[in-house]
Amino acid sequence: MRSIAPSLSPSARESLREGFTWGVATAAYQIEGAAHEDGRGPSIWDTFAHTPGKTRNGESGDVACDHYHRWQDDVALIASLGVDAYRFSIAWPRVQPLGQGAWNPAGLGFYDRLVDALLARGIQPHATLYHWDLPQALQDHGGWASRDTAQRFADYAEFMARRLGDRLRTLATHNEPWCTAVLGHQIGKFAPGLCDPALATQVSHHLLLSHGLAVRAMRAAGVTCPLGIVLNQSSVDTAEDTEADRALARTEYARFVRWYMDPLFHGRYPDDPGIEHRPVVQDGDLAIIQAPLDFLGINYYTRIWASAAQPPRPQPKALGVTDMGWEIHPRGLQDLLERVHREYRLPPVYITENGMAHADRLQDGAVDDGPRIDYVRSHLEAVAAARAAGVDVRGYFYWSLMDNYEWDSGYDKRFGLVYVDYATQRRVPKASAHWYRHTIEGLRGRGTGGHG
Ligand code: FCB
Repeated sequence: MRSIAPSLSPSARESLREGFTWGVATAAYQIEGAAHEDGRGPSIWDTFAHTPGKTRNGESGDVACDHYHRWQDDVALIASLGVDAYRFSIAWPRVQPLGQGAWNPAGLGFYDRLVDALLARGIQPHATLYHWDLPQALQDHGGWASRDTAQRFADYAEFMARRLGDRLRTLATHNEPWCTAVLGHQIGKFAPGLCDPALATQVSHHLLLSHGLAVRAMRAAGVTCPLGIVLNQSSVDTAEDTEADRALARTEYARFVRWYMDPLFHGRYPDDPGIEHRPVVQDGDLAIIQAPLDFLGINYYTRIWASAAQPPRPQPKALGVTDMGWEIHPRGLQDLLERVHREYRLPPVYITENGMAHADRLQDGAVDDGPRIDYVRSHLEAVAAARAAGVDVRGYFYWSLMDNYEWDSGYDKRFGLVYVDYATQRRVPKASAHWYRHTIEGLRGRGTGGHG
């Protein structure tokens, strides 16, 4: 392990000292395992991962981190990091195996106990209702291509919010609807693995509609916890100062950021000329989608590089790339936050995901992941600068608590603060976990005592 890990700058410490929530994040399919236990129904990710050729080495979330059985130890692990908050997702097919109709008491009980255990340790629970594991039974009825799925989602959201809402610190509807729409229905690299751009656009509308219907249903049910949505966003930079690059940058930003932000905050879809498909929108849909939010979750990993040249100008790598091949560009997080702050009337913002994959190795019982410390530190500096510039960022959730099933990349990509030895399910906090804990403790002005 490095003897001296760099710490946050004095100005960042000042900016993050007050009113800032420190967390870690996970998602159900990536950690829970127990795919066939206690009445859980199959999801589109079970189907996809078990379809030959779709994921690395055919790997699936059947076992993952076995969190479904080890959740008590994992809650203790979270507490040991000294964080304030834990973001997790609820597996819809675990609580409602067919996506409509009967509820599964065993699945509901699992999340009840998890939330209570977090609260008992003074850790705020932040839940997400949909992190990509649609019940397969709903896919068999058309999935997100079917408008009816939006209403099924609203019913599920209302039920879960009535059940857990009084104990959650926040509740998000969707995680990264762009991924569901584009990676799932246009590029086909995620479940359900379809390759139809026009359909993907319609899916994006049904996802946003389902969000709006869910928010409306939860508010009507009197749910009091803050409600929001989590979007993946990037800053966009032009390779060259040409009109072609600027036009491309506008289109990329419209596709990636504005396609979701404009309907949520302005009640319309962007009409950038580079956007090829328009969804079928019924009267009243956009008013439903525009329902006021209590918070916005932003996930940031890297920037978008706009180069219209042929061949395109290579994306710079001054700070290197992660094990996913994503450029490390912390400045983009600040640029993005300041831009969306200028362009929209934002509710409080949480950075609900940020982190890096690194080819970690367990050596002598420890993992020295210095590059991850640099990644987190530099991105926290960016958040601190955005806060100092007036963006109301209320917290930061590192992705991820522990190494887990990274979708089509299987178990090859390690994002965790905590190393997971999949053969034994042993968890080993990495150097970055120790750094994170010390950073949080330092800002709280405490010693190395526990977190209460
Ligand atoms: C995000 C996902 C999350 C994880 C990280 C690396 O897009 O929300 O589940 O896979 O990327």
